[in-house]
Amino acid sequence: MELRAPTPVSPPSLIRTQLSKPIFTLPFTPNKPYSPLTTSTQFQKPKFKTLTAISPSVSTEQETETHDQDEKFDWYSQWYAVMPVCDLDKRAPHGKKVMGLDVVVWWDKNENAWKVFDDMCPHRLAPLSEGRIDQWGRLQCVYHGWCFSGSGDCKLIPQAPPDGPPVNTFKKACVAVYPSTVQNGIVWFWPNTDPQYKDILTKKKPPSIPELDDPSYTFQMFNREIPYGYEILAENLMDPAHVPYAHYGIFRAPQPR
Ligand code: FES
Repeated sequence: MELRAPTPVSPPSLIRTQLSKPIFTLPFTPNKPYSPLTTSTQFQKPKFKTLTAISPSVSTEQETETHDQDEKFDWYSQWYAVMPVCDLDKRAPHGKKVMGLDVVVWWDKNENAWKVFDDMCPHRLAPLSEGRIDQWGRLQCVYHGWCFSGSGDCKLIPQAPPDGPPVNTFKKACVAVYPSTVQNGIVWFWPNTDPQYKDILTKKKPPSIPELDDPSYTFQMFNREIPYGYEILAENLMDPAHVPYAHYGIFRAPQPR
């Protein structure tokens, strides 16, 4: 998701073509299923190399160590934008992958709030994003119809005998719920379902973008899956020199001299 800026952006189809092979792997791309319930992954900042030219014929390569011995950025202790609200339909769940996590965003009419759940039913792991919102405003799994409230509690197991034990109240029947909020017209989530982060919003808020709430600004929000990391997109947006050539015929190019 991004704000549309005046600077032209490469069409995803073009970028995808150019980058069919990854240039590098992102440090936070999980190689194996990530369990936010059990761990909090930390990644060290990269070491940057600085090339210093001291004469036209001599250069030295000076490795600059980042002062990161104690500075570690915890990618899973930050707020992340999931979807702009304008792209969401309250009548259906929406699947999304953010930070390597499959989540489902859905409107809980009972709590009047957007909810972000693990996109996995606790029963047989079906994606909840393929389910529906039932008439009571619960998220219903598409596979066997288990229903969940906005707090992740299982409210109904249709196949459970009414005179049997209340199996729907078992902890294993609950869905993992991520902390979430709406700010600046965007649904944000905190990518850790550990209960210690339940009230994280009271301690740390998503980054504020006041322009999005300012009617004097014109902007467009959209959300699109792109098969590469933010570093590549940021580099592309800061590189206007490519525009007349990579977007040949789309944008006005300077006349050759
Ligand atoms: S997999 Fe969801 S109810 Fe069975």
